[in-house]
Amino acid sequence: MRLPVFDDVLAARDLLSSHLPATPMWSYPALDEATGASVFVKHENAQPTGAFKVRGGLTFLAGLSPSLRERGLVTYSTGNHAQSMAYACARYGAPCTVVMPESASEEKIRATRGYGARVVLSGADMAGAQKAAEALAGEFLLVSPGDTVELMAGVGTAYLEVFEARPDLDAVVVPVGSGTGAAAACLVAAAVAPRCRVIAVQSASSPAAHDSWRAGNTVERPNRTAVEGLATGRGFTVPQQVLRDGLAEFRLVSDEQIRAAQRVFATHAHTLAEGAGAAALAVVLAAPDDFAGLRVAVVCTGGNASGSEIADLA
Ligand SMILES: Cc1ncc(COP(=O)(O)O)c(C=O)c1O
Repeated sequence: MRLPVFDDVLAARDLLSSHLPATPMWSYPALDEATGASVFVKHENAQPTGAFKVRGGLTFLAGLSPSLRERGLVTYSTGNHAQSMAYACARYGAPCTVVMPESASEEKIRATRGYGARVVLSGADMAGAQKAAEALAGEFLLVSPGDTVELMAGVGTAYLEVFEARPDLDAVVVPVGSGTGAAAACLVAAAVAPRCRVIAVQSASSPAAHDSWRAGNTVERPNRTAVEGLATGRGFTVPQQVLRDGLAEFRLVSDEQIRAAQRVFATHAHTLAEGAGAAALAVVLAAPDDFAGLRVAVVCTGGNASGSEIADLA
């Protein structure tokens, strides 16, 4: 399998220009005061599907041959890749089946079905959903949510926008599940902002990507986080290979720190973030001394908080 390169991201931006406007990146004085840093929030929660993943889905579908589009695809996801693929398949007239774990949020299931995808609920977690998706691979094209070059190229376009808006960043903090977003951030930073440190974050309750990066090869780990976008039990090969060279640091935060960051987003930046969307801010809040006085982009990767997460903000 080939690794993605910066030119893939540039090509994805051309493809996406007719589908998605650039998302805003705002700063908020109250948030700067709370963190002690100059924080820039990249608002991927403002995407039509509420998360950055839609950049990848549209890029993937755009590159698919008419016969593969006709055949349709199957993939697996806790919810935002699901919506991305469903949305993109609807745009390109391709049948879409998404296997989601039985624990998936009803809001994400409803949204995915809303775009016309068939949703199959199977397995307790991503590993179980993957198994069920693989069983359908004879019928449909199986799309890995993590090891697919086009998905990484597409999500990388967010980082072109980040660095064009702020070429002077000291750090960008990126939440990780499979690692497509962080890998793409590394590719783009290396090409256009080499002095900006890319910092990845995962929940300490699901540290597979973090531990894979530290080990230098993909490992499996318990997958117990309640933060569904970060909930993977294994490292993914392709993003890990890119992260190995490009990533400056990989941090872990607790689910409680992520919940606290969701509250700070709501109270200091009038932003509704789902857990994964608040993980980058959680890193800055957890270690203010490390970021004091620095220019830091935190990527609010998604806003698809469930009803119970929203109730928890109070
Ligand atoms: C909101 C959100 N943030 C971050 C991630 C992690 O992205 P990746 O799987 O590219 O590491 C996901 C994954 O689904 C997500 O939904």
